[in-house]
Amino acid sequence: MKFSHFLPTKLSFGFGSVRGVGAEAKALGATKALVVTDKVMVRTGIVQKVTENLGGIPFDVFDGVEAEPKIEVAQSVADSVRSKPYDLVIGVGGGSSMDMAKVASAFASNEGLARSFVGNNLFTRRPIHSLMVPTTAGTGAELTVTSMVTVDGHKQWINSPLLLPSAAVVDPELTLSMPPGVTAATGMDALCHNTEAYLSALANPITDSAALEGIALIVGSIQRAFETGSDRSARESMSLGALMGGIALQAKMVYGHSIGYTIATRFKLAHGISCGLPLPYVISSYAVACAPKMKKLAEAYGVDSSTEPQEQGRAIAEKARDIASGVRIPFTLKDIGVADGDLDGLADECLAMYPRPNSPLVFDRKSMASLYRRMWEGDLEA
Ligand SMILES: [Fe+2]
Repeated sequence: MKFSHFLPTKLSFGFGSVRGVGAEAKALGATKALVVTDKVMVRTGIVQKVTENLGGIPFDVFDGVEAEPKIEVAQSVADSVRSKPYDLVIGVGGGSSMDMAKVASAFASNEGLARSFVGNNLFTRRPIHSLMVPTTAGTGAELTVTSMVTVDGHKQWINSPLLLPSAAVVDPELTLSMPPGVTAATGMDALCHNTEAYLSALANPITDSAALEGIALIVGSIQRAFETGSDRSARESMSLGALMGGIALQAKMVYGHSIGYTIATRFKLAHGISCGLPLPYVISSYAVACAPKMKKLAEAYGVDSSTEPQEQGRAIAEKARDIASGVRIPFTLKDIGVADGDLDGLADECLAMYPRPNSPLVFDRKSMASLYRRMWEGDLEA
């Protein structure tokens, strides 16, 4: 066995942990902070819940983050963070805000246009400190090496281990007011992260442990969090499950997220919906390629694990479908308006734009097209 795993982020978890944000910032030596967030977070008072706990550290707020941020947003955040001598960036919000905060910390010390950093490992200087405060239970972006950006209509990423935040304060309290639709989409995203990472050829014992625990937590709580947003125990489990997904993400995603990217922009779907829809089909597809790992996955999903891998995969896929439909995630590509004639083009785009060398299941044009057709028709049988 051989693997490497990054663990640089100080993590504080639990109800009320946001009150410790000032102590965390001071421990990082912060004297001037830039808060990177969106206008909804400002309007709903969540940014204030963070800044009132900063213990007097001066700060400015950049609230120009939008959902699925374009590279132009990354450029604005770069301009902002370079305009004053900030020594800390605080990300407050969901994945988009945290992703922009992470790149802001790197842009502060690395010259050049935001666009020139799209790709892998292009930062040469250490970022200034960053501290993440997630307000959804989904992306796990507080613990990942990646910031997603939309470039010319396509999902791209800025990847670097240097983007791993210095600290993360994960307080489930901040997720209590999340509306059901956002709870569903972000929660499904977290379930995808844990499941896809577990199926990845790059999985290691740390990511596997996190993924299986994350799956069990989410399977046991997503419906309650969706129906009763004020259920503190469900919210706590969802926040923890999402965080486990962030740890698991170092194993990288398989084709579920790739498929999600092909439909997200074209059909204007929230990220968690676009990757949640393919999840059941992806699970049944990978059952044979990941045969030795299916038993533990079945246990984490709470289905019969005593059967053969293919049957286990089928049972897990059905459970994933039931979980998704329980929180009103569409089940077929037909449901979201994909036309029969779109399928081959989407399959080609998936393979060309979002390849997964870490996928234990290798797809060609024909098998990918047939997966898209199954997703269109609602056929879980791999
Ligand atoms: Fe995701």
